[in-house]
Amino acid sequence: MSHRPYIVGNWKMNGSRAMLAEARAIDRAAARHPHVQIALAPPFPLIGLLREAVSGIGVGGQDCHTEAKGAHTGDVSAAMLADIGADFVILGHSERRKDHGESDALVRAKADAALAAGLGVIVCVGETLDERDAGRAEAVVSGQIDGSIPLGEAAAEAVALGKVAVAYEPVWAIGTGRVAAVEDVVAMHAAIRARLTEAYGEAGAKVRILYGGSVNAGNAADLLAAEGVGGALVGGASLTADAFLPIVAAAP
Ligand code: G3P
Repeated sequence: MSHRPYIVGNWKMNGSRAMLAEARAIDRAAARHPHVQIALAPPFPLIGLLREAVSGIGVGGQDCHTEAKGAHTGDVSAAMLADIGADFVILGHSERRKDHGESDALVRAKADAALAAGLGVIVCVGETLDERDAGRAEAVVSGQIDGSIPLGEAAAEAVALGKVAVAYEPVWAIGTGRVAAVEDVVAMHAAIRARLTEAYGEAGAKVRILYGGSVNAGNAADLLAAEGVGGALVGGASLTADAFLPIVAAAP
């Protein structure tokens, strides 16, 4: 099981074949940070090309279908992601929960499919500003954890192998430049840890909990050094090597 800090770039709906040069630069630099697990999740069309372009970092998807194949026009299965070389998939991102109405139950079904295909999973959770302002942040996120993380024997095996991670991404911090206060991140990660231990027993103590939401070179060191933070899920600052590598270098 890897306990290395896990720094993952989520390119979202950004990227091109030309942009793979940034990924190659990140890959070359990875050798200077052997204590950090680094990965990138580009849009679907670039996953296979990225896999061929890099060797020292992980390659992942940003979503997958619950089924292995069939009449689902436009969708992509976990098996297809694995077939083109992806080793993990991000699931339940707040943008998908909002744009595609993804429920906790759907996220769990996708996570089950991903594990069945041999992929690792990063399950995203996070509250809205209204929920935080109403004092409901921990209740909302705890409920998302309880409803979204994979359960059962396959999940227990994947947890033991370090293939299950959680990303706490307060919705109001995503893409806004407004990073969560370290003390709030520590408190939420502790609440998430309690739910993971409830679900997985002692093994839950070792599931890495990443923080995401306006992570950059200026705030990464404090966030990554904080109690209970096992890495970062980075959006905008993962699109160039110049922006992403200082975050990698900040990992303790
Ligand atoms: O999945 C990571 C993403 O939601 C964070 O985006 O641009 O605030 O780093 P950003």
